[in-house]
Amino acid sequence: MGTAVNPFAEKLLLSVKFKKLFPYALYAILPIVLLRVCFYSSTPLSQPPAVQFHENPSILIASSISSSPSHNEDGEYGVAQCDYANGKWVPDDLGPLYNGTSCSTIKDGQNCMSHGRPDIGYLYWRWEPRKCKLGRFDPEAFLTFLRNKHLAFVGDSMARNQLESLLCMLSSFSPPTLFYSNGNDNKFRRWNFPSHNVSVSIYWSPFLVKGVEKQEGQNHNQLYLDVVDERWASDLGLIDVVVFSIGHWYLHPAVYFEGDSILGCHHCPALNLTEIGFYGVFRKAFRTALKTTIQRKVANGNAIGVIVTTFSPHHFEGEWDKAGACPKTAPFDESEKPLGAMDEEMRKAGVEEVEAAKLSAEQLGHWGKVRVAALNVTKLAMLRPDGHPGPYMNPFPFESGAQHRVQNDCVHWCLPGAIDTWNEIMLEIMKGWQAQSRGGG
Ligand SMILES: *[C@@H]1O[C@H](CO)[C@@H](O)[C@H](O)[C@H]1NC(C)=O
Ligand SMILES: *[C@@H]1O[C@H](CO)[C@@H](O)[C@H](O)[C@H]1NC(C)=O
Ligand SMILES: *[C@@H]1O[C@H](CO)[C@@H](O)[C@H](O)[C@H]1NC(C)=O
Ligand SMILES: *[C@@H]1O[C@H](CO)[C@@H](O)[C@H](O)[C@H]1NC(C)=O
Repeated sequence: MGTAVNPFAEKLLLSVKFKKLFPYALYAILPIVLLRVCFYSSTPLSQPPAVQFHENPSILIASSISSSPSHNEDGEYGVAQCDYANGKWVPDDLGPLYNGTSCSTIKDGQNCMSHGRPDIGYLYWRWEPRKCKLGRFDPEAFLTFLRNKHLAFVGDSMARNQLESLLCMLSSFSPPTLFYSNGNDNKFRRWNFPSHNVSVSIYWSPFLVKGVEKQEGQNHNQLYLDVVDERWASDLGLIDVVVFSIGHWYLHPAVYFEGDSILGCHHCPALNLTEIGFYGVFRKAFRTALKTTIQRKVANGNAIGVIVTTFSPHHFEGEWDKAGACPKTAPFDESEKPLGAMDEEMRKAGVEEVEAAKLSAEQLGHWGKVRVAALNVTKLAMLRPDGHPGPYMNPFPFESGAQHRVQNDCVHWCLPGAIDTWNEIMLEIMKGWQAQSRGGG
C-alpha cells in the first residue's frame, strides 16, 4: 500500500485491448489490479546468480503408468487414502482454533476481525470430504510429526496466507519464536517452535523459477523457466518439507526465457514476440522447481517432502474498488457454481506436475526418500466466496458512513477462515506419508 501511482487507468486501458486477444483476460485483470496495488515491491529484487544444472533428462519423464504400490488408493500398506479434494462445506459450531487477537502473526490486511468485519458466519464451516472424515486440526500432532524438522513455504502472498494460518493454529498449542527476518515486507522469515524444535519459514518467490519482477516504469516480468530461484533453492539443504504455492503472479505481462532462447511472452504487444499465454509456462515452473528439489535432495542422500498447493480462485463480482466487490457471506453449494476455465487449467498444471514427479521418483527408486503430493484445494477454495477480507483489508472502512470508492481484497483469505482447512488437509497428507513409511513404502 501507500504507492503514489494510481494504477487503474493504465491497467484498465490495458484490459480493453487484452479482452480482444484472450478469453481469460477479463477474468485475469482484477487480481492483476489488486496485486499491482497491494503487493508490488518498489524495491528492486536482487537477481540470484545464474546456476547451471546438470540435466538428468530421465528424472521427470513420466512414461506409461507403472503399477506402483504407493499409487494404489487403497494401497498394499492398508492405508486408505482419502480424496480430500471432493466434498462440501457443512455448518460447524466449533469455530476456529484462534482469533484476530489471540494470534499476533496475522498480516494486517487479512485480520478481518480486528478490521471490523461484522459478520462471523464465515467462521463456522467445516470441509467434509465425500468419503471420509477430515479431523479438526491437531497442532500437537502436527508439531510431533515435524519434530526437529523444517517446513518451508515458498511462493507468493497466497503461500504467506497459508503459512500465517498454520502459525496461528500451531500457536494455539505452543508459541513460536521468530528467529530470522529479512527482506522488504517480511518476505523471508523463520520461526521455531521450541516445544518440538520445529522450524517454519516463508520464502518469497512468486514464480518459483528465477525471475526479475518488473519495476515501476517497466511493462513486464522476466522469467527463466529452466532455472530455479536460488533465494529458496540454495536453502534446500536445510529444508525437510516444502510447500509451493504460486499462481496469481503468472497473470502479469512477462517475457519467458528457457536456456539461451526466448520462448515468447504474455501480453507484450510492444516487443514483437510470440504470445504464448501463461498456462504452459506455469506448468514448466512447477516442473523445474520439483525436478531441482528432488535432484538436489537425492544427490545429497536426503529425504524431502514436497507439497504443491493448487491455485486459489478469486471472487470478484464487481469492480475491485467499489463496495460489494465480494459481498457473499456463505459458501456456494457444490452444484451452484462450476470451476472457471482458468482455475481449472491452473489446478491441472499443479496436480499433473506433481503426478509426473511422483512417478519419476518411483521409477528412479527414490520413493520413500521423496514424497510428493498435491494439496488440491482449488475447488474447495472456489466454494468459499465468503472467506475474503473484501473491504476489511483496511481497518473499519465504513467508519465514516457508506463509501463510494473502497478497496477490496477478494483474493486472499481472512484469518481465521477457510484457508485453515488447507493446513488440516496438509496434516492428513503428512500422516499418510508416515503411515506409508511404516508400511515399508
Ligand atoms: C482435484 O480435485 C478435484 C475435486 O476438487 C477433482 O475433480 C480433480 O480431478 C482433482 N485433480 C485434478 C488434476 O484437477
Ligand atoms: C480470542 O481468543 C482468546 C484466547 O482464546 C480469548 O480470550 C478472547 O476472548 C478471544 N477474543 C474474541 C474477540 O473472541
Ligand atoms: C532442531 O532442528 C534442526 C532442524 O530444523 C536440527 O538441525 C537440530 O539438530 C535440531 N536440534 C536438536 C537439539 O535436536
Ligand atoms: C518481428 O519479428 C519477425 C519474426 O522474427 C520479423 O520478421 C519482423 O521483421 C519483426 N518486426 C519488427 C517490427 O521488428
